[in-house]
Amino acid sequence: MFIKKIVILFSGEGTNLENIIKKLHNKEFNDTKIVVSKAITNNPLANGIKRAKREGVEVEIIDHKKYTSREEFDKELVKAIKKESPDLVVLAGFMRILTPIFTENIKNAINIHPSILPLFKGANALKRSFESDMKVAGVTVHKVSSELDSGEILEQDCFKKDRLSFEEFEKRIHELEYEIYPKVIVDILIKKK
Ligand code: GAR
Repeated sequence: MFIKKIVILFSGEGTNLENIIKKLHNKEFNDTKIVVSKAITNNPLANGIKRAKREGVEVEIIDHKKYTSREEFDKELVKAIKKESPDLVVLAGFMRILTPIFTENIKNAINIHPSILPLFKGANALKRSFESDMKVAGVTVHKVSSELDSGEILEQDCFKKDRLSFEEFEKRIHELEYEIYPKVIVDILIKKK
């Protein structure tokens, strides 16, 4: 049996974090067991902390407000990630702009973004995608690179916006995220064996 370790980074609600843990943590895929060895947050008040702990996953809090610069925060983050020697680092609603300290040290990281990239990069993507006159919307999983929301696209899916209310739209986006993110993680970990 092979063991593949992932570390999940999050900042807030943590519904993707919880979904990934529920679908993948301690689960076997062929001859490989996936283990979420740690979740890390920059936000001591994040709801995801309770969600991860409820599922038996250890959470490390690295409060970005305690650091004088993004670089100092990223140094601490990189240290905490490297301690785990993960096969994959999964960003799930991690709302920090990363510096080269992160991107040059952590090469195996992926992110999920609530839009069809390269459209609507950056903050408030879900709202901007909803308010645009585009007829479709969707989500993207991509590699983390030095430029925000610009790494290689690994997976995307979309749906017709029709006349969805904002609440319905948000729900559709999250449903798609919960469906595609765990699948991409499994694909990467099983292929990388
Ligand atoms: C998700 O919709 C994710 O795509 C988005 O934050 C939300 C986190 O929700 N990420 C970004 O916007 C990254 N730029 P969650 O905390 O409930 O998983």
